Amino acid sequence: MKNIVRIPAYAAPAGGRLSDDMLADYQDAGVLILRNFVSVEACAALRQRALELVDAFDPEEVRSVFSTTEQTQLDDDYFIESGDKIRFFLENDAFGDDGKLRQEKKHSLNKMGHAMHDLDPVFDRFSRTPELAEVVKRIGFVEPAILQSMYIFKPPNIGGEVVCHQDSTYIYTEPESCVGFWFALEDATLENGCMQFIPGGHKLPLKKRNYRGADGKLVTETLDDTPWPEEKKQPAEAPAGTLVIFDGRAPHLSASNRSSKSRHAYTLHVIDRKARYPAENWLQRGDHLPLRGFD
Ligand code: FE2
Repeated sequence: MKNIVRIPAYAAPAGGRLSDDMLADYQDAGVLILRNFVSVEACAALRQRALELVDAFDPEEVRSVFSTTEQTQLDDDYFIESGDKIRFFLENDAFGDDGKLRQEKKHSLNKMGHAMHDLDPVFDRFSRTPELAEVVKRIGFVEPAILQSMYIFKPPNIGGEVVCHQDSTYIYTEPESCVGFWFALEDATLENGCMQFIPGGHKLPLKKRNYRGADGKLVTETLDDTPWPEEKKQPAEAPAGTLVIFDGRAPHLSASNRSSKSRHAYTLHVIDRKARYPAENWLQRGDHLPLRGFD
């Protein structure tokens, strides 16, 4: 593995037209930072829309699901069925011992997912810009499809840690085709738990694969138990408006957020329609919501 001491970062190119240097850096590092890819106004509009959706959500409904005796399976079902819906996932530490939310609702959520880009007009517009379509084309997609969207809240004080992983573990295709597009909607810093990557680590093997077992429950199989070279990790600090592009094999993580600032981000995962999409992958869509690209 090549030693890359810094994650490649550029100002966003006009029209999403990545230069040869940007493409070469992306292929080398498996991750590329593009500053000012979207306007601060567009970021604010998406945050506003997310808050409207959060306002309409009643955390009690989710808590009642999570507090039954068959917690794990119901937890799994709520997640597994969210591929063609807009669902809300609370932080582990959202509820205090008294059974009440520790913080206001908008600061209690871990994420929202996984089909805002197809179900909500504001998210649809943010997700399907000509600039992003051009980036996707330049990194080599011929028939891209946006498989999932996630709104990450990373709330102040209780925002949870995400341990080192590869997204192709969860979004597996044959051949592998998953690429992540992560938008900073607020400034992401080391203090509030920004993303961190092991640059060049996308050339390592896929270490785990997550899928539905015969009983329908999710399992994560270890394919390679070599530890990650985490000493090589580099922070991807990102002012609001930044786009971070990363290969499905790029190892990444983020620390917990114990600061007083939230760290909202929006992620899209794109796959190639030509690749085989296994029926055992957790994310399955009903026929009522066919996969779409950037048209
Ligand atoms: Fe990830």
